[in-house]
Amino acid sequence: MTDRIIKKLDELKEQARLGGGVERIERQHQAGKLTARERLEVLLDPASFTELDIFVTHRIHDFPMEKIPGDGVVTGYGTIHGRKVYLFSQDFTVFGGSLSKAHAEKICKIMDLALKAGVPVIGLNDSGGARIQEGVVSLGAYADIFLRNVLVSGVIPQISAIMGPCAGGAVYSPAITDFIFMCKGTSYLYVTGPKVVKTVTQEDVDHEALGGAGVHSQQSGIAHFSEENDIACLERIRELMAYIPQNNRSEPPLIKNDDPADRASPALAGIIPENPNKPYDIKEVILELVDNREFLEVHADYAKNIVVGFARLHGRSVGIVANQPDALAGVLDIDASLKGARFVRFCDSFNIPLITLVDVPGFLPGTDQEWHGIIKHGAKLLYAFAEATVPKITIIVRKAYGGAYDVMSSKHIRGDFNYAWPTAEIAVMGPQGAVEIIYRKELEGADDPEAAKHKFIEEYREKFANPYIAAQMGYIDDVIDPAQTRSVLIRSLEMLTSKRDANPWRKHGNIPL
Ligand code: HXC
Repeated sequence: MTDRIIKKLDELKEQARLGGGVERIERQHQAGKLTARERLEVLLDPASFTELDIFVTHRIHDFPMEKIPGDGVVTGYGTIHGRKVYLFSQDFTVFGGSLSKAHAEKICKIMDLALKAGVPVIGLNDSGGARIQEGVVSLGAYADIFLRNVLVSGVIPQISAIMGPCAGGAVYSPAITDFIFMCKGTSYLYVTGPKVVKTVTQEDVDHEALGGAGVHSQQSGIAHFSEENDIACLERIRELMAYIPQNNRSEPPLIKNDDPADRASPALAGIIPENPNKPYDIKEVILELVDNREFLEVHADYAKNIVVGFARLHGRSVGIVANQPDALAGVLDIDASLKGARFVRFCDSFNIPLITLVDVPGFLPGTDQEWHGIIKHGAKLLYAFAEATVPKITIIVRKAYGGAYDVMSSKHIRGDFNYAWPTAEIAVMGPQGAVEIIYRKELEGADDPEAAKHKFIEEYREKFANPYIAAQMGYIDDVIDPAQTRSVLIRSLEMLTSKRDANPWRKHGNIPL
C-alpha cells in the first residue's frame, strides 16, 4: 500500500474528528462544555479508545444538508480501570447532536455488541433531540434505542451522563438506564422545554429551573449524581465503575486494600445518642464500617431520610442502604421508598451484596403521603428487598418499628444474617404511641396522667424496646458489640460468597408500579 493511500485515510479521519468544525468546537468550550471526543479522553483509560463508524453519514435527501462524517455521535469501545466498556458520546457540534436514523444505528450497534459480550454501556448525552429534517424516521430510530435499553436492562449496566440538552422523547433512553449523571448549569433534561411549557401552562420557567441538575438531583430524583462540570462528572463515572460488575453473570471487582478486616471501631458505641429521640448522622456509622472510610453515595441530595451507596468491605463491593435519623428522623416516605427500592434492585441485578443499617421509626403518616400512594410506593421497597437473592446482611442499630421493621431486609423476607446492637428497639410501635393505645383507660382514670404515662412508657421501653425478644425468636441472629460490627460484617459476607438462592419461575413479577 502506498503512503499516499494511508495519508489520505489519515486526512479523512482527521477531518472527521473535527466534527462540526473549529468554530462550533469553540462555541462548545465557551458554553463550559468539552467536546464529545474530549469527554471520552477524560472518561477512559489513556489511549484505550477505539472508534467505530467514524465515516457514517445521514441519508437525508429532502433538505440540502452537509454530510458530516460521524453524524453527530462518536461511538466505540475502551477501558475504565482496565475493564472493557462500550460508549457513545453525542457531538453537539454536528447538527446539535440531533438524532438521525444513521446516528441511532451507530448507538444500536454498540448496544448490540455490548449485550453479546456482556460489557457495560455508557452514553454521554448532548443533543437537540430528534433530527427535525428526518421526521418520523428519527422518532422510530429513538424507539430502536429504547427497545434495546429495556432488553439489556438487568443484563449489562447502563450509565447515562446528561452533558447538554436532552429533551422530548429523548429523555426516555437515559430514564431506563441504571444511573443518570448531570452537570450543574450545562445540562437539561425535560419532556417539554420552557417555550412549550409557557404556551400550555402559562408558566414562566427557564431551562435550569425546569430540568437542570439541581431539580433532578433534589426534587424529582431522576438524576443520581449532580456534578460541578464535565470533568467532575466523568471522573465520578469512573469511580462508580469500580464498584460494579461487567454483567449480571459476573461478580463485581474485588479490590484489595490494607484496611484490616478485624479492625474494631470503638467510636461506633459513641455515635448513637443516649436519648432515643435524638438524631445523629448514619453516614458516620457507614464511614466507620467500610474500607478506608470510602463511600460513594448515590442520590445524595434526594430523599435524605434514607442513604444508599457503594463501599467495600475487605475489598468486596457492597451496596449500603441505611435509614438516616438526621433527616425526618429516618422515617420511610414515598421518595425514600422509591430511592431505596431502585438501588436494591440494581444491586440484586448485578450481584452486589446488600448491607442494611436500620434505624427507622416507621412510615410517614399523613394525608399527603396516603393520597400520593405511600402504600404502593412503600410496597416497592418491601418487594425489592424480598425478591433480592444477593447476600443480605442487616444490622438494627436503634429503632425498627412497625411495618418498617419487616421492610428493612428483615429475617422474614430472606435476610441471611440479621444482627442488632444492644441499643436496638424492635417493636410494633414506639413507646409513646403504644402506651397511649394500650393504657388508654388507665391513663384516663389516673390522678396524674402525665406521671402515669411516664411510668408506662418506661415499663414498655424496658419490656419491648430492646433487641432481646427478637433474638429469643431467632429473628435476630445475634446481638453484637457495635465496635465489632465491621469484622462481623466481613465474616458474614465471607460465609455468603457461595450463597445460591432463586425465585420461583415466572415471566416477571408484578412489582406495584
Ligand atoms: C436538527 C438541530 C436540532 C434538531 C439543534 N439543531 N436541534 N438540527 N434537529 N432537533 C441544530 C441547530 O439548527 C444548529 O445548527 C445547531 O444544532 C445548534 O443549535 P442552536 O439552536 O444554535 O444551539 P443552542 O442555542 O445551544 O440551542 C440548543 C437547543 C436548540 C436548545 C437544543 O437547538 C433547540 O431547541 N433545538 C430543538 C430541540 C427540539 O425541540 N428537539 C425536538 C424535541 S422532540 P447550526 O447549523 O446553526 O449550527 C424530540 C422527540 C423525540 O426529540 C421523540 C422520541 C420518541
